[in-house]
Amino acid sequence: MTDKDHPHNRKVYIETYGCQMNEYDSEIVREVLRRNNYTLTDSQEEAGVILLNTCAIRENAHQKVHARVRQLGPLRKRNEKLIVGILGCMAQNLKKELLEGDSGVDLIAGPDSYKALPVMIDRVHVTGEKEYKLTLSEYETYADVFPTNRHGINAWIAVMRGCDNYCTFCVVPMTRGRERSRDPFNVIEEVKQLSAQGFKQVTLLGQNVNSYRFKGFDFAKLITAVSRIDGIERIRFTSPHPKDFPESLLEVVATNPKACKHIHLPLQAGSSRVLDAMNRTYTREEFVALAQRMREMIPGLVLTTDVIVGFPTETEVEFEETLEVMHEVKFDAAFMFKYSERKGTLAQRNLGDTVPDEVKTDRMVQLVEQQRRISYERNQLHVGETFEVLVEGEAKHKGQLMGRNDGNKIVVFSDNGARPGDFIKVKVDEVTPNTLIGTALTTTEAIRKFAV
Ligand code: 5AD
Ligand code: SF4
Repeated sequence: MTDKDHPHNRKVYIETYGCQMNEYDSEIVREVLRRNNYTLTDSQEEAGVILLNTCAIRENAHQKVHARVRQLGPLRKRNEKLIVGILGCMAQNLKKELLEGDSGVDLIAGPDSYKALPVMIDRVHVTGEKEYKLTLSEYETYADVFPTNRHGINAWIAVMRGCDNYCTFCVVPMTRGRERSRDPFNVIEEVKQLSAQGFKQVTLLGQNVNSYRFKGFDFAKLITAVSRIDGIERIRFTSPHPKDFPESLLEVVATNPKACKHIHLPLQAGSSRVLDAMNRTYTREEFVALAQRMREMIPGLVLTTDVIVGFPTETEVEFEETLEVMHEVKFDAAFMFKYSERKGTLAQRNLGDTVPDEVKTDRMVQLVEQQRRISYERNQLHVGETFEVLVEGEAKHKGQLMGRNDGNKIVVFSDNGARPGDFIKVKVDEVTPNTLIGTALTTTEAIRKFAV
C-alpha cells in the first residue's frame, strides 16, 4: 500500500510516559515512521496520528493515560480521520478494552511491534477497523533501527530489553517480555555514529542492564568496548540489578576513566523477609555488603536507589529495617514509591494489597524525610570540591547554567558563556539536598581553546 493509493495526514504527534526505555522507544518509533514518509509534529491539532507511548509500572501512570485518552475525545470528534494509538507497556492490558465499543483508541502496539506501525496505521485508515499487535518477541532488539534525531547532550542507547527476574511486584516481565541482548558490534556501531554526531555522553539502557550478555560477551566488556570509542567521554548505565555485579564490572567502573562513578542500586526493601517475598534474590546483609564493597573499590562513588514502602504483608518493624539500611548505606539520592498493585504479578495473585494507604503514606513521609537529611549530608561533603561538569543548559533561575558532574549530581553556576556539551570546572560553594551550587573556574575563552 502506498501513500498515493491512500493519502492521509501523515503528521504524527507522539507523547511519552514512563522510563528512559520508553523515551528511547519513542525515538525508534519516530525513526520507523520517518522511513515511511511520515513527518513529526509538536502540534496535536495538526496531527493525523496521535500516539501515546505508555507506562504501566504504577497505577498512577496507568490512570494518566486513561485520562489523556478521554481528553482526546473532543479532538477525535472534530477530526474524524484522526488515528489514536497506544504504544508501550499498557498495550497488553488494554486489548480487551479496545475491542469493546468506542474506546477512543484505534490501534494498540506492544513494545516489540513498532516495525509494524506503518502497515497498521495504513490499515486503520483504509478499513476503519481497530488494529492491535501485542506479541512479545524473544529476539526483537531493533538493532536495525538507529534513532537519528536525538537531542541534548546525552544519548540513550538500549543494549538489552525485557526482564527475566520476576520480582513479584513488577509488571515489566508481562509488558516487555523475555530478556534479550543486542550484538555488541551493533551497539558499538551506533555509539560511533553518536560520537560522530557530537555526543560526548552515552547512557546504556536496559530493564536489567547489567545482565547484558551476548554469547559470553558481558556488560563489563561492553562498557570497556564503548569506552574505546573516540569522542565519547562519559558512559552511564541504568537500571542494574544488585545480583549482576561481578568483580569484573566493579573493576571497570573503578578504573575506566570514562565509566561514570555513579551506580543506581535498587534496594526495594530493607528486610530480608520482604526481599524474599519480592523475589529479589539477596538478603539485607548481602545488599549492605555489596554497597560497602562498591564504596571501597570506587572512591567518590555516588550511590542512588529505588525503594518501595507498603509491599503486601510488610510490618512496621520490617519497614523500620528499610529506614535502617538506608541510614547505614547513606544513598546520595533515592526514588521512593508506595506499593501499587499490578494485575498479573505474583504479589497480586498470592499476597493481595494488605497495607492500608494511610500506612503507606505515613511510611513514605518518614522515608522521604530521612533521605532528605542524608542527601543533604552527602552533598555537604562536596563543599569546596571542584568537579568537571558537562553543561546541559540553562538552570531554573535566570542567569544560571546547569550541568552534571561525573556522579550525575546537578551542578548550578553563574552563566559564564558555556554552551551545552562543554566540559567546565566548577568549585562547589554551597549545596541543597538535590543540587550543588558553585563557581565556574573555566573561562569562556578557555572552553573555546579547549574545544579547538
Ligand atoms: N509498586 C510500586 N513501585 C514499583 N516499582 C516497580 N513496580 C512497582 C509497584 N508495583 C518501582 C521499583 C522499581 C522502580 C522503577 O519502580 O522501585 O525499581
Ligand atoms: Fe513503565 Fe516499566 Fe514500561 Fe518503563 S518498562 S514504561 S517503567 S512499565
